[in-house]
Amino acid sequence: MKKEEFTRRRRQLMRMLGKDTIAIVPAAPVRHRNSDVEYAYRQDSNFYYLTGFDEPEAVAVLMPGRPQGEYVLFVRDRDPVREAWDGSRAGPEGAVARHGADDAFPVADIDEILPGLLERCSSVHYTMGIHPDFDQRIIGWVNGLRAQAKHGLHTPQEFVALDHLLHDMRVYKSSPELDTLRRSATIAAGAHRRAMKFAAPGRHEYEVMAEILHEFHRHKADISYHPIVGGGANSCVLHYRANSARLEDGDLLLIDAGCEYDYYASDITRTFPINGRFSERQRAIYEVVLEAQQAAIDKVRPGNHWNEPHEAAVKAVTQGLLRLGLLKGKLPKLIKDEAYKPFFMHRSGHWLGMDVHDVGEYKVGEDWRLLEPGMVTTIEPGIYIPPGTKIAPRDWWGIGVRIEDDVVVTKGDPEVISGGVPTDPDEIERFMQSA
Ligand code: GLY
Ligand code: MN
Ligand code: MN
Repeated sequence: MKKEEFTRRRRQLMRMLGKDTIAIVPAAPVRHRNSDVEYAYRQDSNFYYLTGFDEPEAVAVLMPGRPQGEYVLFVRDRDPVREAWDGSRAGPEGAVARHGADDAFPVADIDEILPGLLERCSSVHYTMGIHPDFDQRIIGWVNGLRAQAKHGLHTPQEFVALDHLLHDMRVYKSSPELDTLRRSATIAAGAHRRAMKFAAPGRHEYEVMAEILHEFHRHKADISYHPIVGGGANSCVLHYRANSARLEDGDLLLIDAGCEYDYYASDITRTFPINGRFSERQRAIYEVVLEAQQAAIDKVRPGNHWNEPHEAAVKAVTQGLLRLGLLKGKLPKLIKDEAYKPFFMHRSGHWLGMDVHDVGEYKVGEDWRLLEPGMVTTIEPGIYIPPGTKIAPRDWWGIGVRIEDDVVVTKGDPEVISGGVPTDPDEIERFMQSA
């Protein structure tokens, strides 16, 4: 992502904030996995969205209209000894020279500097509750100012949650963001193709996961969530995480795996037969889910409301289950009674962006939000019949199918950006059998 994109976002946010305000956004803390071992550092999405700065222990401050500079970054100071161990740091100079800050200070000095910046502002835009330690520091700075108010110092009058404005900006993807999402989805689709080719009876779920991870990493991407690689009955476990079982001849394999490329997530699910040929029942369920997915994708159009794709999926799934004899009754009543829910118990999608379940409201007041160009959603209906399902005969047990794609709302037809891996069952069979 180019520097200009981050500048544009800061400008847009500052226009909405208006004068006499301050917005404070801290970087994500470093998190420990066990003992002194750290997780790979992942910058906070809001912080990165505004700064493009990927170091920990930083704080971004925006002050619209401030003559000495509107954008101030607090960053770790240079430290040759620490840098010899952990790698280089931008330092305040680098933050200005390379990261677009108008002014930058060592984060170690923030207690001395930030209260002075707060003093000039009537409202503080900050999101409480995400970084509790930092919440306490903000409260401490404001209380410090209040204690001095009797000496004539000005104190901010209100705290405003920053996420309403910022998250709404993040719902509408710019052209560079869409390009990055397309790249992310292309890499993930390649990983699914590789997994489809690799999977075979006798291999294991973790081996398939290894193929996926290899494909992500060789394209400079990482996981956007822990991959789900579930064979047989495991395909019916929505958030299956173990990925430890042997793949059996005659079973389906459900893979829900997406990558994060340059901070943008993809989220793709494919389900296919481990031996390369769908059984009659597997294919029957698969075709219902595919019909539901296609009906839902067709509703991803401007002016439709958020729930229309889900409603289309629900209708197609219910019709399909009726056709297969897995539900009995009249379509409208089955839909009204949510009779499909034992088989299809999740929603048909979510916003997609820097976070896999991306930020942004789904409703405006009581009403579903209308879709607009630049929004990106997943479309992911499924049908799951785990062993022991009383309302389904035994020969349907162990079939779990989900098909998930990433879809951009455009002015015209929906743009499926994850189509680089087949969903058509004949195409899947041909692809798996080709050399
Ligand atoms: N992979 C998470 C989801 O599909 O929502
Ligand atoms: Mn999803
Ligand atoms: Mn998914």
